[in-house]
Amino acid sequence: MYRTHNCGELRMADAGKEVTLSGWVQASRDFGALTFIDLRDRYGITQLVFNIEDDQELCERARQLGREFVIRAQGKVRERSNKNPNRPTGEVEIEMKGLDILNPSATPPFTIEDSSDGGDDLRMKFRYLDMRRDPVKDKIMFRSQVAFETRRYLTQEGFLEIETPCLIKSTPEGARDFVVPSRMNPGQFYALPQSPQTFKQILMVAGFDKYFQIVKCFRDEDLRADRQPEFTQIDCELAFVTRDQVLDTFEGLTKHLFKSVINVDLPAFPRMSYDEAIRRFGSDKPDLRFGMEFVDFTELVQGKGFQVFDQAEIIIGINLPHQADQYSNKAINELTDWMKRPQIGAKGLVYVKVNADGTFKSSVGKFYSDEELREWADSAGAEPGDLLLIVSGEKEKTQKQLNELRLEMGNRLGLRDGDDFRPLWVVDFPLLEWDEEAERFHAMHHPFTSPKQEDIERMLDGDHQTMKSLRADAYDLVINGAEIGGGSIRIHDRKLQERNFKLLGFTPEEAEDQFGFLLGAFEYGAPPHGGIAFGFDRLCAVMKGSMSIRDFIAFPKNNMGRDMMIDAPSPVDKDQLEELGLALRDRANVGNE
Ligand code: AMO
Repeated sequence: MYRTHNCGELRMADAGKEVTLSGWVQASRDFGALTFIDLRDRYGITQLVFNIEDDQELCERARQLGREFVIRAQGKVRERSNKNPNRPTGEVEIEMKGLDILNPSATPPFTIEDSSDGGDDLRMKFRYLDMRRDPVKDKIMFRSQVAFETRRYLTQEGFLEIETPCLIKSTPEGARDFVVPSRMNPGQFYALPQSPQTFKQILMVAGFDKYFQIVKCFRDEDLRADRQPEFTQIDCELAFVTRDQVLDTFEGLTKHLFKSVINVDLPAFPRMSYDEAIRRFGSDKPDLRFGMEFVDFTELVQGKGFQVFDQAEIIIGINLPHQADQYSNKAINELTDWMKRPQIGAKGLVYVKVNADGTFKSSVGKFYSDEELREWADSAGAEPGDLLLIVSGEKEKTQKQLNELRLEMGNRLGLRDGDDFRPLWVVDFPLLEWDEEAERFHAMHHPFTSPKQEDIERMLDGDHQTMKSLRADAYDLVINGAEIGGGSIRIHDRKLQERNFKLLGFTPEEAEDQFGFLLGAFEYGAPPHGGIAFGFDRLCAVMKGSMSIRDFIAFPKNNMGRDMMIDAPSPVDKDQLEELGLALRDRANVGNE
């Protein structure tokens, strides 16, 4: 037998028991007469002790053990004289009687402890070693629990888990597809799904009125901390539902996951329209853990001779309570430079300090009197000791810049605490986005999203300008400034779907070619339906107070989309390419064409 217990479960109540444990050597300490080994497995660490007076030969063998050797240890549980209160097993140790080396280990390339000395790429190359470290291991185990509770909740709610294919035709979610050549159909390609969107809609037509799947999705897009090319969704669809029923169901799921996995009772989720989120926070995923809401100064400050403001489309700012004294001229200059970096692109930053004696200090003090600055402060609710930071310019850009500043100040002031959870639904997104450069509309969510009921008529016969004002029956779940999920009520009527494809620039032939199957299905009794998908990796990360999803994925890709462990992507051999009809012709031929 390899083990009677695991390395995380022995306690004082087990003292006196004969036990067998198996695991990895985390550390050893040799004190001459006594040798201590910390034995680790997925469940924890238990201390083994070898006494030279009890068994010299056994002690000698223990001294030979290197880090990460796999061993089987047999002995008796006893109370420790020197207890370790930081470890659940810290009150006991094993008085060793037998030891087998099950497999030796090469010296690991980095230390397998909570804070490792290995760089990112090295740890990804040796991912199996990295996953032995608690910070990574705990996240992988956490993810499994969240998946289990998701299945439990949705199954109890009557959802069926149905798999959809991975080799499909492209789904237009807005990113690039990963494509897979078909050997049996030379010159033709499958695409890996960006999401199971069209399949889940077809499942509704098939009558499976509550579907879910914890499913891999693939998107060839630039990577960030919260994005991977291959990620997982909790994907759902329901028939015969209104928007509010979808929101209630998934608010219920979210609350269940927080309660059952991390014992957090979430408050009711507020609902905020897209327009309101942009106006108050400059973002469609506002972080509600702190205030610092936008204040619009536009009407108040124009026409007083300050050109920059006079020429701006919008002048907005935030109030930082008690920060006037914290920001010297130098600190303000540094912040201004931070705002001017290309990533943010602000032209400048105006400040107003509300002094304790009721006077003001401001970078635009020569254009505005103290009475005027008092009006600004009043409209922002600023009190003595507060600091106003103001930006101006073209509306959309300025809102984005101030959003960045708000989040940065939230970080600096420690207001974005990972244990505080502020969920909200953002609703009523625009249906279409006008792309100035390409002179065309894009779907803000995806092409299957329905306009709001009251906008359907306007969508069917309105003009270009009308199209820009259409609202979608679409919603996002946002928690702590992260977009956790998105979904919508779908179009289930062929005529409206065709109109949407037309607005998105598809000719009838292109629409038929790409989505004929869906349009066809809509002719055979498609029920009204809607759904949502949560980013599963993101949900796990946010629940654990992290903005990075990488460690919640067992085998993630690096920033270049590479799997460092298996070294993918990689070239394939020429025969394989030929078989797929993809062999490159030799250079001379290419040049001659
Ligand atoms: P959407 O494109 O909004 O909707 O995706 C849903 C959620 O998936 C997560 N997500 C990602 N997570 C990690 N890496 C990525 N590259 C990545 N891209 C997206 C986000 C996002 O909110 N078919 C629709 C859903 C629907 O309408 O039902 C869809 O895929 O958390």
